[in-house]
Amino acid sequence: MTDPKKIAVVTGASAGIGAATAEALAREGFQLILGARRIERLEQLAGKLGARFHALDVTDPASVRKFVARIDRLDLLVNNAGAAFGLDSIERAVEERWRAMFELNVMGVLRMTRALLPALRATSNAHVINIGSTAGFETYRGGAGYTASKHAARALTKTLRLELLGEPIRVTDVSPGMADTEFSTVRFSGDRERARGVYKGLTPLTAADVAECIAWAATRPPHVNIDEIVVRPRDQATSTEVHRHG
Ligand SMILES: NC(=O)c1ccc[n+]([C@@H]2O[C@H](COP(=O)([O-])OP(=O)(O)OC[C@H]3O[C@@H](n4cnc5c(N)ncnc54)[C@H](OP(=O)(O)O)[C@@H]3O)[C@@H](O)[C@H]2O)c1
Repeated sequence: MTDPKKIAVVTGASAGIGAATAEALAREGFQLILGARRIERLEQLAGKLGARFHALDVTDPASVRKFVARIDRLDLLVNNAGAAFGLDSIERAVEERWRAMFELNVMGVLRMTRALLPALRATSNAHVINIGSTAGFETYRGGAGYTASKHAARALTKTLRLELLGEPIRVTDVSPGMADTEFSTVRFSGDRERARGVYKGLTPLTAADVAECIAWAATRPPHVNIDEIVVRPRDQATSTEVHRHG
């Protein structure tokens, strides 16, 4: 009897790193269940990959419940949905933006992980991969809301690794630096010109570059746990030290 296909959930699969991860995992033979709010985008990608898809808002407990209710067995959960809102100093911080970042980047990961643990436990070799950020290790001016949320998400990932020790469930943090996705456009409320400025004069990572790291971690043998991958463009040494040419 052949093994059943491995099943992976990818959150935030309608764009950027999540969409590229879905493609990379499909190439590795995973059967995919994609989630995000923009359902028409999911439909397009799912059609191409032969994947299942459902609307998902990780900030809404009812939406998470509905999404996970259809899943009784799961090999891989990629908690990718996330965003930054604004680049405000602490003095000028907009509380609503901070709350939104914490709801999405921290509580969203908590909700999805907790809700899917029974399904992950129903397989003999499961894996949770959380997409952190170099913002989970570093700080920069104007970034406190986002960096605080990604520091918190990293603490969650490291704690999960401890709490699942002894069970056949791996836990991995993949933390990218600058990747050219919709991330900066979302951060600057749709201001594409400002978003383009973030990557001006340097060669950022692509979503596919990050997806390759995720797929690599997911396809190691079951006894190998990749704890952390930090991946940045060659032109970026830290969140603030960036080389721009020309
Ligand atoms: N790009 C970078 O430079 C960078 C660097 C470090 C870390 N990251 C992290 O990488 C992850 C992916 O970001 P990205 O760069 O690919 O950005 P992106 O292109 O803006 O994609 C973000 C994805 O998250 C989804 N999403 C947003 N809010 C959601 C919600 N409430 N519920 C479910 N899905 C939601 C979006 O889909 P919908 O809008 O359709 O819901 C979209 O598919 C994030 O966790 C981000 O923090 C990005």
